[in-house]
Amino acid sequence: MLKDKIQTALNKQIELEASSSQFYLAMASWSETLGLTGTSNFLYKHSDEERFHMLKLVRFVNERGGKSLIPQLSQPPKEFDSLSNIFELLLEHELNVTDSINNIVDLCLNEKDYTTYNFMQWYVSEQMEEEALARTILDKLHLIGEDKGGLYMFDRDLETMAQSLSNEGK
Ligand code: FEO
Repeated sequence: MLKDKIQTALNKQIELEASSSQFYLAMASWSETLGLTGTSNFLYKHSDEERFHMLKLVRFVNERGGKSLIPQLSQPPKEFDSLSNIFELLLEHELNVTDSINNIVDLCLNEKDYTTYNFMQWYVSEQMEEEALARTILDKLHLIGEDKGGLYMFDRDLETMAQSLSNEGK
């Protein structure tokens, strides 16, 4: 049986993953309206991944005899300043998610809940990958600057990344 403190923390995490999914969905849609097909496909996939992160938590809480709370949807931003702005926001958001996951891992140790501790290790490695990916994308964007040809290549690169996310079945 899950302790109340752990259940509350996991339910907060469910909300955070759901809001990540909405946030990236808004970014995907915004990019699509600008004709950035590769970027939008990448962000649509990323949004799906976040939903999967949420779902995995929902199922875990219920399987442990707890009760998952399905959160209300919050309104993500409607507009973004630029492509760089999107990926800066994405990285900043992922850093917050990492903090939140680390806090849950800490709590699990304090509460001696080793089952949840083990379960959370998947999220710990996922965060490492996601932060690295966001940094790589930002580096590419900084290299490109205002170059239109570079932007075209960037969008194609993101299409490839979107495909590889699909192949990993995430
Ligand atoms: Fe599920 Fe990107 O954190």
